[in-house]
Amino acid sequence: GRALPLKGKSVIVTAGGTKERIDPVRFISNDSSGKMGHAVAEAAWEKGAEVTLITASPLAVSGNITVIRVESADEMHEAVSSRFDSSDALIMAAAVSDYSPETTHTRKMKKRDKLTLTLKKNPDILKEMGKRKQTRQCLVGFAAETDKIEEYAKKKLEEKNADLIVANDVGKKDRGFNVDKNEVIFFSHHEEPQTINLKAKKDIAEDIVDWISNFIN
Ligand code: C5P
Repeated sequence: GRALPLKGKSVIVTAGGTKERIDPVRFISNDSSGKMGHAVAEAAWEKGAEVTLITASPLAVSGNITVIRVESADEMHEAVSSRFDSSDALIMAAAVSDYSPETTHTRKMKKRDKLTLTLKKNPDILKEMGKRKQTRQCLVGFAAETDKIEEYAKKKLEEKNADLIVANDVGKKDRGFNVDKNEVIFFSHHEEPQTINLKAKKDIAEDIVDWISNFIN
């Protein structure tokens, strides 16, 4: 029916900021809370989808959603990769750490005057799924930028072979990371950029899910 446009569709959502271990008590991470991704997962479930949420965030999730808790980019990569081919949509709302320590120490490192960490680049999950994507699948990425938002978002749309990029200006206060509201711009291939004015992440999540159901139905 009209209220459940995603009935019978399988949707994967990623959320949160990954943690990259230095040793058992230390890690590298970022400011992502997971609020936006969790809201997208809940909105997709409300529209009838079968939802798998792969999250690095400790936040609770409501609804009948399969929740897979991960820590690192590598764990998230494995969890997404093994499920992607049988999904109808993937929404990569997670802030995947761009780098991780080249070596993770199994014991706590002792304090020293100077410490140099060598970081290696993490797999780009969105880009890899973009290469594997079938035409029936919908791929959504996020872009958090402080400047040249339009230029970078459009570049991301092409480079990652995404269908939609949800861009937000993380340089502005009271929106974006770790707060309940957001203001975003939708970038897609055949439409003009669409600004979604400042409102609750739950409401933005609904707009994203509506965009996806139009795309896959
Ligand atoms: O390239 P950039 O990190 O700015 O792109 C952001 C988008 O790419 C987000 O949707 C994010 O989830 C995804 N991403 C990813 N794997 C990475 C880095 C980002 O899937 N290693």
